Amino acid sequence: MSTLKKQVLVTGGAGFIGSHSVELLLQHGFNVRVLDNLSNGHLSNLPIHPRLEFMRGDIRHADDVKTAMHGITHCLHLAAQVSVSSSVEDPVGSATHNILGALNVMHAAAQAKVTKLVYASSAAVYGSPSQLPLQEECATQPLSPYGLEKWVDERYAALLHSLHGLPSMGLRYFNVYGPRQDPHSPYAGVIARFLDRLLDHQAPVIFGDGHQSRDFIYVGDIARANLAALLSPQDGVCNVATGKSIDLLNLLGHLRHLSQCHLPARHMPAKAEDIRHSCGDTQRLLAWLALEPQWSLQQGLAELINYQRQVRMARPTALSANA
Ligand SMILES: NC(=O)c1ccc[n+]([C@@H]2O[C@H](COP(=O)([O-])OP(=O)(O)OC[C@H]3O[C@@H](n4cnc5c(N)ncnc54)[C@H](O)[C@@H]3O)[C@@H](O)[C@H]2O)c1
Repeated sequence: MSTLKKQVLVTGGAGFIGSHSVELLLQHGFNVRVLDNLSNGHLSNLPIHPRLEFMRGDIRHADDVKTAMHGITHCLHLAAQVSVSSSVEDPVGSATHNILGALNVMHAAAQAKVTKLVYASSAAVYGSPSQLPLQEECATQPLSPYGLEKWVDERYAALLHSLHGLPSMGLRYFNVYGPRQDPHSPYAGVIARFLDRLLDHQAPVIFGDGHQSRDFIYVGDIARANLAALLSPQDGVCNVATGKSIDLLNLLGHLRHLSQCHLPARHMPAKAEDIRHSCGDTQRLLAWLALEPQWSLQQGLAELINYQRQVRMARPTALSANA
């Protein structure tokens, strides 16, 4: 099949990871349809392009998903309730998106006999690590409803493979950062929040002592993994990580240095659902998808700082906004 005939449905395509993935898929000649309810995504994240179609709809509604799946050959499922804290506060609401919504997408993909379904899982499926770096075979003991929901999605994908032969790959993203992650959203990642505070000349907030570590991966590398997984014959789950971790105090040091904003952190009590250390093993990413991260942390942070500065410069000042 030629690339031009590939019709990809991207659920959650107007969001942070979705919009970067859509751009890359368009660059590779795919026809792209986005299904998004715009609860956390923005139309302004998407380019205007003759091969891009937008459908406003909700993965919790089977009819919306069925309509969106019409004529689709490949599906990238990213739409989700993405906040770990919200999943703790409202596990039922979170599960309607992340389990029932995901099942709507998987079932429709199986019915449509798509060539490949790629869906967003998460490093949150591991919970507190039994070993580091985390390999895909490690025990999964999620610490939050969000992590459990992503694990249930993986089980459903495996079941639909054996029941209906649905080819799929679940990507366990580690901590993703980059342009278009909204720092003001309650779901924002720590890098977006730290940087936003620094650029506003306010003290960044650290929950806990700051020695907790994470494997941060740039959103451009996530989009590359999504594309490679859509084209891969492999089936199963795969980490998308860098294999390197950094603690929050050191991360803040890099951000201070790169942004030239030298403010001390304010510490708040640690959150119970927070994992202490996280780092992903990347052997499968290399073996299955032939992928090595292209952006170092320094390069990715520099891109993000440039982007955040441009966004700030484009904002109307209080004076011109009132004029
Ligand atoms: N950002 C990370 O660090 C990270 C890490 C691991 C996994 N993930 C997963 O990656 C995926 C994308 O995350 P993101 O960071 O881009 O978040 P995001 O909030 O920017 O994107 C999610 C998109 O889904 C849409 N959406 C939400 N509920 C919907 C529904 N019921 N129906 C239709 N659309 C809906 C939102 O409007 C948004 O555009 C999610 O599945 C998330 O769980 C993200």
